[in-house]
Amino acid sequence: MSNSAQFVIAGNWKMNGMLDESLKFIDSLTENPNPTAVEMVICPPYTLLHPLAKPLAEKGVTLGAENMHFEASGAFTGEISPLMLKDAGCHYVILGHSERRDMMHEDHALLRKKLEAAWKHGLEPIFCIGEHLEEREAGTTNDVLKDQLAVLEGTDSSLPLVIAYEPVWAIGTGKTATPEQVSETHAFVHEELARLGRKCKVLYGGSVNPGNAESLMACQGVDGALVGGASLKADSFMDIVGAAARVAT
Ligand code: PGA
Repeated sequence: MSNSAQFVIAGNWKMNGMLDESLKFIDSLTENPNPTAVEMVICPPYTLLHPLAKPLAEKGVTLGAENMHFEASGAFTGEISPLMLKDAGCHYVILGHSERRDMMHEDHALLRKKLEAAWKHGLEPIFCIGEHLEEREAGTTNDVLKDQLAVLEGTDSSLPLVIAYEPVWAIGTGKTATPEQVSETHAFVHEELARLGRKCKVLYGGSVNPGNAESLMACQGVDGALVGGASLKADSFMDIVGAAARVAT
């Protein structure tokens, strides 16, 4: 089940990370300044899940994966199943990241299957949503988010879920949404979730770094961050955790 901490700071390593450097990363992690207020999560590539599970747990960091197939096993060459993620010690799984939607053509029907498979096998999805630049400029952000969230329609609202709102134009670009855009959009996402019978954390993602984390975490309706680039170095990841701990009430 979801951790009760006020903030979740989750690192999404994407296609980065070798074993040696990852073990050094974990060694360099300093102590979580406020574990009851901030949950630390690392989602490394599949090859690192098993070897990092224990060292991360010893540092109080929750393990997550970046993706999965919806079937439990079978003839799906190159895929990883929810059972394998459980076996490796994962609690979370990122689903619907914009890089997978855009580059791997993951659509709503597929994501619904993945969400259901995650719940069936006891994983907590970090379900990503977000608009492209043209959509923000055309004023259709809320329609896009509503459509992406509609995948949750009719699912059991007691099942654990975290949403990550990541404007696609802010991912890996160094451009972050302004605090006004973040507060406004998070308010809409929480409202839409309530309409779907859900109350859950909504993380912000897109070029979160030690310099902007505190102002982003202070925005109304922001319950943490999904961090790509800045989660690859232990000190910048810890600085973001520290920023959330300072904002925590
Ligand atoms: P970024 O990535 O922090 O490097 O922008 C965020 C993400 O894609 O989850």
